Amino acid sequence: PSSPYLKGKKLLVTAGPTQEKMDPVRYFTNRSSGKMGYAIAEAAAQQGADVTLISGPTALGAPRGVETIYVTSAQEMYQEVIERFEETDVVIKTAAVADYRPKTVSEQKIKKAEGEWTVTFVRNPDILQELGKRKTHQLLVGFAAETEHLQDFAMQKLEKKQLDMIVANNVAAPDAGFSVDTNRVTFIYKGGASKDLELMSKQKVAEALCEELDILLKSRASK
Ligand code: PMT
Repeated sequence: PSSPYLKGKKLLVTAGPTQEKMDPVRYFTNRSSGKMGYAIAEAAAQQGADVTLISGPTALGAPRGVETIYVTSAQEMYQEVIERFEETDVVIKTAAVADYRPKTVSEQKIKKAEGEWTVTFVRNPDILQELGKRKTHQLLVGFAAETEHLQDFAMQKLEKKQLDMIVANNVAAPDAGFSVDTNRVTFIYKGGASKDLELMSKQKVAEALCEELDILLKSRASK
């Protein structure tokens, strides 16, 4: 492995969408496939990190060398992440967590009726923001999926959630973001420095991210 500081570190990676149930047959979700997060989990494991992946529902097989835990909703993801946070060194939140869930979950299938159907949503917990409040020694890395004002919006999230780094993900381009195999990202650091990456496979983005993590861990070790 070429990332000596990543080796042996405990990494928690989240990936995929969450599903927010309305009734036994319906849910609210988004287009995340899990590919980006799974690629990160696998790349970090290849560098010798001890990786736990908390995954929402995807069609992907579990990545090699990674402990994978499956969840469905944002509230479940919250539980699994918080439970492991203290013993974790680095958290990478690639998951596209639903910000809202239906206020009520019907036990029976909701029947159709005449006219419009209005569903009331309530806010889900912001997992990453909670980690930002609780962090002691952990390195926190977020993702920001944006269709406009990429750098500004990502920087706002970095500050609000007290992150060390955010991966600004341009999701407006057809060859980047949700579902596809390639991605266009910018790494932005606490303090505002940034690095633009060209179009590349999600595997290559994952490898580049591991290199950045290694540098961050190295500078931390020398403090
Ligand atoms: O899965 P793929 O198809 O490969 O697609 C990859 C991706 C586009 C989903 C991924 O690269 C990406 O950009 N993930 C973040 C998507 C997102 O929902 O970002 P956000 O801007 O809404 O959230 C910002 C950060 O806060 C994220 O790290 C997110 O995990 C976290 N968050 C958000 C809401 C919430 N309730 N809890 C959170 O922890």
